[in-house]
Parts: sequence; C-alpha cells; structure tokens
Amino acid sequence: MDSWIKKDLKHIWHPYTQMKDCKILPPILIEKARGLKLYDNKGSFYYDTISSWWCNVHGHNHPRIKNAIKRQLDSLDHVLFAGFTHKPAILLAERLISITPGNLKKVFFSDNGSTAVETALKMSFQYWQNSGREKKKNFISLDYGYHGDTIAAMSVSGVDLFNEIFAPLFFKSYKIPSPYCYRCPMKKKRTFCDIECIGPLERLLRRRNSEIAAIIIEPLVLAAGGMIVYPKEYLKRAAHLARKYNVHLILDEVATGFGRTGKMFACEHAKVKPDFMCLSKGITAGFLPLGATLTTDEIYGAFYDDYKKGKTFYHGHTYTANPISCSAALASLDVFKREDTLRKAEGLISIFHNRLERFRGLDIVGDVRCIGMIGALELVRDKKGKKKFGINERIGLRIYKKGLRESLILRPLGDIVYFYLPFSITKDEIGVIVDKTFDIIKNERSVR
Ligand SMILES: Cc1ncc(COP(=O)(O)O)c(C=O)c1O
Repeated sequence: MDSWIKKDLKHIWHPYTQMKDCKILPPILIEKARGLKLYDNKGSFYYDTISSWWCNVHGHNHPRIKNAIKRQLDSLDHVLFAGFTHKPAILLAERLISITPGNLKKVFFSDNGSTAVETALKMSFQYWQNSGREKKKNFISLDYGYHGDTIAAMSVSGVDLFNEIFAPLFFKSYKIPSPYCYRCPMKKKRTFCDIECIGPLERLLRRRNSEIAAIIIEPLVLAAGGMIVYPKEYLKRAAHLARKYNVHLILDEVATGFGRTGKMFACEHAKVKPDFMCLSKGITAGFLPLGATLTTDEIYGAFYDDYKKGKTFYHGHTYTANPISCSAALASLDVFKREDTLRKAEGLISIFHNRLERFRGLDIVGDVRCIGMIGALELVRDKKGKKKFGINERIGLRIYKKGLRESLILRPLGDIVYFYLPFSITKDEIGVIVDKTFDIIKNERSVR
C-alpha cells in the first residue's frame, strides 16, 4: 500500500465510509484536477461523473474562478461577519437576489448545505414564535427527502440508512410519501395520474396547519434519496397548499441549484416562490464551502425590532460569508453569464438524456430518470416485480469497483447508479462515460 494511504488510514476517519472497507478499497490519492478529470499520484485519471458530491459546476480548475480566488487572497482572507461586512458578500447577496424568485430579498450566509437548511428551519420556527403563533413548531418533510447531517436537518430527512440510528435525537417532523413515480405510493401510473400523491399533504395540512411551521422539499429531485426526479405539478400543488394553509415553504436547492436541472434553480420549472431557499454545493462551483439561506422581507420583518423584545436571530457560523468563498461564487455566476452556460448546455442535456434511453432495455435497470445534467439508473433484481437487491448483495459497490477500473466514479446511492455532470463536459465525454457504464451494468446482469 502507498505510504500516503497508510498515513491516511492511520490518522483519518472519512465521511460516509465503513473504514474497515478501506483495507480492500483504500481511498484514492488525488493530486490534480482539470475539467472532468481527477488525476491520482500515479498519473491515472478518473472521470468525476458525480461532480465531487454534486458541487463542481463548470469542471475542475476553471481559470476564471481560480483567478478570482487568487485576487481575493491578496486583499482579505476572512473577517467575522457580525459588526463587519465586505464587498464580496454584499455583491453576492445582490446577485443571488437578482437571480432567485422575486419575493426573496434577504440573504443569510453560512458555510455548508446542512447549515443553510438549519438556518431556514430555525428562522421559520422563530418567525412563528416572534409573531405570536407559538403553536406552529412542527415541520413536514418527504419520506425520501434529504437535507443534511446535522440533527435538525436529519429530523426532516427520510433516508433511513443514514438516519435510523440517530432517530431518538430527532424533533417531530411529519413524514409524507414522496412523489416517487417508479414506486408510486398511490400505485398509479404517471401517464394516467392526477398527482394523487399530494393527498397526504393536503389532509395533513387541513388537520394540523395550526401546529405546522413549514414544509421542506427538494424541488424536482430527491437527490440523496435516490435521484428521484418528480413531476413539477407536485411541487406546484405543494406550494399552493403551503400558501393556502399559512405554512412556510422551504425549498432546499442545495443539490439542484446552479443549473443542475437545466435551469438556474429547479423551482423555476414549476414557477414556485418559496419563503426560504437554501443554497450551497454549486454556489462556489465546487471550489470552497459556502451556504446561503434566502428569505422574504416579511419574514425578516418579524425579527426586526428593539433588542429588548428578544426577536433577534441568534444563529451564526465562524466562516459565515467567507470572502474567498463569496469571490468564488461571484466568479462562478460570471462564468454562467459570459459562457452562456445554460443555453449551451441544452444540446448536451438532450444528447445525455438520449444516450441514457439505452439502459431501459437492460433487465437489471428498473427505472431511468433524468433532468438536466442529472441521470439515474435504478437497479433491480427482478424488473417485472421491481424487486430490490438484498443489502448484502452490494450491487452498488460491485459496480463502483468495476467503474474505477474503467476510470469512472460511479459512487452509487444504494442500488441507484447516477451521473451528476459538470457543464464543462463534452459530447464525446458523455458518450465515453455513458457507454462504459452501459457495458459495466450489462455485464453485471450476466454474472448474476
Ligand atoms: C438537498 C441537500 N440538502 C442539504 C445537503 C447537506 O449539504 P452539506 O453536505 O453541505 O451539509 C445535501 C447534501 O447532499 C443535499 O443534497
């Protein structure tokens, strides 16, 4: 084993990793990254098909973003954000407000996705306290939703594998069935349905709206829950119900924001205006940590008062609005504009989606779903019965290992193999990645 890896395993505990597995599958030492490729210390490369956990937007090492970071380093590294401010944060807040739904007027910065969510949950909760509606303290979330790994974010997440053990620590959150069309909770077919899966939300809100602060949803894609792409009508109706029953709508765009679904923000597909929008991951195009929670003047107003009234929002993080991160975020937004990224991506997206169609013919692939630069393949043991693989079969891990041998990072979500592609990808690279994956998955079938 490489001496660096030995040292790594001696001192480091990696996230989402059973460290014992590292004996057989040690971490790969990456030294350099360019565009879609990550290079290891032996000169081999890997296609970063999942944008390094969905944050890399324009490809690695984009010169405009790199230079903006270098310039910022020469003037201001960091400064506390209470009692002090700086131009990169001011400019970024202004830019974010100009590109998100029109009702969002205030930006609260933090430093990752979980804290962006945590901020929204706490603001919503405190809004109702500050407004004399103290009973409104519970939340509604989807059973395949995921919003991060802090206790509050986990309380409103539904991915059991990640959360089960911590359940005794959670606060109350009503879970509603997800609009998971392939495994429809109402046993309907999408082509004939009328979004009946909205029913549980409607009934819950009718009965309990007086005790509900907010509903939190990932718009259009339940990402960590299995890249479940769902109809925009569901989001429209959920937003309508939230409004009707006077409950906040928190849209978690941490994974979907910054172009991943083909539009700058996924909520644009449904023309929905949330009370809170949570951003992170792609905000700095994958260069540096940053989180942001956007909200309305109305919500901000409920906190704005004399100090002694106790309405202050007591929340913050040391690296809130780090200037270098903000500069990277501004540079990324410049790239979107100068390179006309989203318009240019339209062609790539349709090539990508067309190429994924082939997978539908494979027995092992139960569902193919895609939106924008995201594509997912749900693997099943029995296609007709939609029977899942057993957990001990570790189908995802088998494919991951084979992928690495073919220079692909196919890090699965359980039985879901997926792509989360950066905009720097070329037509040819899409072809190589999808075709290699096809061969791996096709052969997996014949081995079983
Ligand atoms: C939708 C969503 N929200 C929140 C988070 C948490 O973000 P972070 O890992 O930066 O805390 C994630 C992470 O995957 C996510 O996908």
